[in-house]
Amino acid sequence: MKAKLSDDEKRDFYRDGFVVLRDIIPKELIVTAQGRYREGENGLDMMHATEFTDLINKSPLTSILRDAMGEFDPPTAARHIVRPPSQKPGDHFDALGYRDKDIPYFGANLHMDGEAVYQTPQEPAEGTPGEIYERYIKTGRMGDIGRCAESTGINFSPLFHDPDMTNSLGGFTAFIFVCLSDQTMEGGGQTNVLRGAHHAMEEFFRWQYREGSRFGPEGPGWPRLNHDVPNRCGYNHLPPAIYEQFTDEHCATTPDGRRWPQPTPVFMQPGDATIAMYHIPHCGTRNEHGDAPRRSPIFTLVNKKRHPNHVIEGHSDHPDREWDGGFLELSEGDNPYERSKFALCNMYHEWDGMQRIVAEERAKEGKSNAIFEL
Ligand SMILES: [Fe+2]
Repeated sequence: MKAKLSDDEKRDFYRDGFVVLRDIIPKELIVTAQGRYREGENGLDMMHATEFTDLINKSPLTSILRDAMGEFDPPTAARHIVRPPSQKPGDHFDALGYRDKDIPYFGANLHMDGEAVYQTPQEPAEGTPGEIYERYIKTGRMGDIGRCAESTGINFSPLFHDPDMTNSLGGFTAFIFVCLSDQTMEGGGQTNVLRGAHHAMEEFFRWQYREGSRFGPEGPGWPRLNHDVPNRCGYNHLPPAIYEQFTDEHCATTPDGRRWPQPTPVFMQPGDATIAMYHIPHCGTRNEHGDAPRRSPIFTLVNKKRHPNHVIEGHSDHPDREWDGGFLELSEGDNPYERSKFALCNMYHEWDGMQRIVAEERAKEGKSNAIFEL
């Protein structure tokens, strides 16, 4: 049984920001988890089902992750985004502010996790940018409470993860996508990633720190909303500089001529799993061509160094807060918010088993491997 990534796999993982492990989950765990899906398709009901958490806790993934990452709490929850087959491009406005049918690459909406998303206006928004923003953030789970750290989006993520409102991403250490359905075809509803862009994101966070130590949307160089889109209220799920850096003349466009980064679909079969860095821009895509619902429980794991005093369930994109947006009870002097900012700027700090490979690869590239101090 495989117990850790090989050095070559770790080098791939360093370069790409994700690594696919083929046929890594024992068959009986896959069959049991697939059976649990067939009983009911409600993501909330399934969140804490052990049939899914066993895919990590009883599979080789636990020792592989302990080696690569270090200590983490065994997950007790997973997120599910089931995508039924034969999905068609729609006329509705997507969070990006464009019509779904106009967004290239099967509606790919590359993003970072932990961004609070509110209800997308389905008519072009009117008024000034400030008025549009204010209306937008009224549509979250807390209603009309204004711009504050208590505001949470319809996706449960907080507008700002820390009480001081200096970080709108928070973050975690690793994603794990476990595959339970055939996702080997183009447009099969699979997860897509922006290969290698984790390096650019880490650099961008360091730049945000230097420019004023606020992180994520609403920090330097990253307006949360883009009003120059068809519904005038589009979400900048990535910083404009990153969209720019990863597009060229080969990229597909929306009807307004805007080019979009081409994501890499992660093709998988039942039994495969993908480990990815928090820092990698990623997205789901429409399941236009799959034969079956796309089923992949998603886990978000956090190195114990970040949350030594708090048990992480393993499904949340905002582990510095409770799932419903409440604040964690922190003991005197405990400050996960600062540790999260440090991790945004030092993405390998929480990958204990990657240290040698990262040092070697950065040396080959002539890049510094020094800690970025905050
Ligand atoms: Fe995501």
